[in-house]
Amino acid sequence: MRRLWLGLPFVVLAIPAQARVTAAPGARVFRLDGNGVTYALGIDDKGYLRSIHWGGAVAESDPIVVPIVTEPSSFDPTPTVTAQEFPGQGEGLVTEPGVKVAFADGNRDLVLKYRSHRVDGETLTVELADIAQPFTATLRYTIDPDTGILARSATIHNGSRRPVRVEQLAAAVFTLPSGDDYRLNYLTGRHAAEWTLKTVPVTPALTAIESRRGLTGHGNNPWFAIGKEGKTAEESGPVWFGALAWSGSFRISVAQDVLGRVRIAAGYNPYDFAWRLKPGETLETPVFYAGYSDHGMGGASRTFHDFQLAHILPDHARAKLRPVLYNSWEATAFDVTESGQMALAEKAAAIGAERFVVDDGWFGARDSDRAGLGDWTVNPRKFPNGLKPLIDKVKSLGMDFGLWVEPESVNPDSDLYRRHPDWVIAFPGRPRTEARNQLVLNLARADVRAHVLGWLDRLVSENDIAFLKWDVNRRWTEPGWPGQAPEDQQRLYVDYIRNLYAILDTLRQRHPGLEIEGCAGGGGRVDLGMMARVDEVWPSDNTDPSDRLAIQDGFTRAYAPATMMAWVTDSPNWANTRVTSLDYRFLSAMQGGLGIGANLIKWQAEDFATATKWIAAYKTIRPTVQRGKLYRLVSPDASVSTSATMYVGRDQRQAVLFQMLHSSMWRDNPGAILPLGLAPEQRYRVRMLGGGALPAGIPTIASGRYWMTQGIRAPLKGDFVGAAFVFEAAP
Ligand code: GLA
Repeated sequence: MRRLWLGLPFVVLAIPAQARVTAAPGARVFRLDGNGVTYALGIDDKGYLRSIHWGGAVAESDPIVVPIVTEPSSFDPTPTVTAQEFPGQGEGLVTEPGVKVAFADGNRDLVLKYRSHRVDGETLTVELADIAQPFTATLRYTIDPDTGILARSATIHNGSRRPVRVEQLAAAVFTLPSGDDYRLNYLTGRHAAEWTLKTVPVTPALTAIESRRGLTGHGNNPWFAIGKEGKTAEESGPVWFGALAWSGSFRISVAQDVLGRVRIAAGYNPYDFAWRLKPGETLETPVFYAGYSDHGMGGASRTFHDFQLAHILPDHARAKLRPVLYNSWEATAFDVTESGQMALAEKAAAIGAERFVVDDGWFGARDSDRAGLGDWTVNPRKFPNGLKPLIDKVKSLGMDFGLWVEPESVNPDSDLYRRHPDWVIAFPGRPRTEARNQLVLNLARADVRAHVLGWLDRLVSENDIAFLKWDVNRRWTEPGWPGQAPEDQQRLYVDYIRNLYAILDTLRQRHPGLEIEGCAGGGGRVDLGMMARVDEVWPSDNTDPSDRLAIQDGFTRAYAPATMMAWVTDSPNWANTRVTSLDYRFLSAMQGGLGIGANLIKWQAEDFATATKWIAAYKTIRPTVQRGKLYRLVSPDASVSTSATMYVGRDQRQAVLFQMLHSSMWRDNPGAILPLGLAPEQRYRVRMLGGGALPAGIPTIASGRYWMTQGIRAPLKGDFVGAAFVFEAAP
């Protein structure tokens, strides 16, 4: 169901058939409806565009009313407590503005009021204008009929004759009704420890989910979900959620206002932000995607996953399933040679890998992370005949070929840097802080952008490359743009990311079959901006299979499992020296896009047999894991020994339940795990993934209702063990 209608008592408009007028006297109301969600906003008698409703569907027969605001005290005059959809920083506003500017005459008072609107299909556009200056903010709203996900963005325009300094700009501002029981969920972490879910109360103390690093960062992901204490759980209760489609510095701020309402503003990070908006120019924000579910965190994430698969990921629903890949990084690090990679490729193909990826170390003088980054020519010592012999070998083994690149960085010890020391982000005459012995290329420069696109295009044109792993391994420091006018220096934060997107977009256009993985020292740049341009992401350099369960639990709060790569690597794991069985490592990695990153040269015959079995088993459930609906049945948590996830195919004909035991305690014998998402009336035959007998006492066939009420459980014992059940529709 989809609908966008306007209630405009005084204006006659060409509006969709379902349109109706329901508004408080003198008010004008817009509403967007989709999949059980209503978003409503309206213009009040003073001309402010006001937030009215974001949540469950409002019945068509019910009125949507612009609420009356009464001034709580002389300290909070009416304009400052009016819940505006996109407030200008003016009139004493004390909540986060949609936009903050300084006009050339020194005026910093911006008061935005309704000027006009337009409806095109499912898109509502509302133009706001300052009460005196020729300055406008145009807000765009689109609702997806299938998921109810709302896309919001804003464009500001300087119609005056002098430049305006923009100091803050949000894509969207949201309001939730007053309440002291809101709880904010966000994802945080650091390198090799990303995707930890934190929950904090929403109070008048502002919480900023942000990156000040130039890239999205490991620290906070540009995603949030707000629930209600005591009401919201994994599968029940209200959840308001959203994510910013932006891969640079960002901020999502959340705080209660003086009336106890929750105000959420999301957009460019005002930290160190400035933009000189010249006369006649516009500045556009990225899109903020927002959703609502009354089926808890699980319902929210499934809705968001559906939306990402259908509308964000490249090729959308036509996107291919993720092939099982082999990546050489943990096996060989920089010690990459033609013969070594060929030997790995033979073994990878034998166990069922479908893609072979050579990681770092194949180019320039790249024998360690100290040199060569920036020199994207094949290292002649390691590959005397270029990449062709290896690629031919990989293809003859039935796999396609992929290569690691880090296009945005440069080692000072490189020919590129020696030629173009001015191409990096830096302040002239100031130190250039190195991280992993590298500096950041200034992609905002037209010549750098052309150079990067040029060599990537040549690399992919001249070699039979199906896949690039696009990495970036440092954040920004000293964010200067040598040669740029002082008042335009901070355009870097926007122009860099726009050019990054343009390079990726052009590369994909020119090479339609090419697939790309987004990586930033693991999960340092995962967001909907990148996801629109990459086919998969690398969530973390931490490949420990137990840590990964927590990482995967956090990752899937926001992003689709279809994009989440997971490798089986060697044990003990480099990240924490934990020792685990190969079975356990596979069961963990099979919950996303499966990859192998182990040193196959060191494997024994039984390891190859185990891997072959699991890779074949994975291929039988791959569409269900990558395209199905994810239920986090029991989240990994230090206080419980067992965790479980369940993936249910879209047609409910197949489902797979992964049960993982962290560590046994007290001869514990946890209760049955209750599956979710099966069709109650459908009969399902159950089998163990990877073969083997069902545990005693489990029937082989029963209805979905039976499984969902009686549960199922493998009697696991020990530490770091797992099992997976496959449910298949039976006649
Ligand atoms: C980053 C990536 C790793 C690997 C190395 C190569 O750390 O996250 O997977 O590609 O770079 O240098």
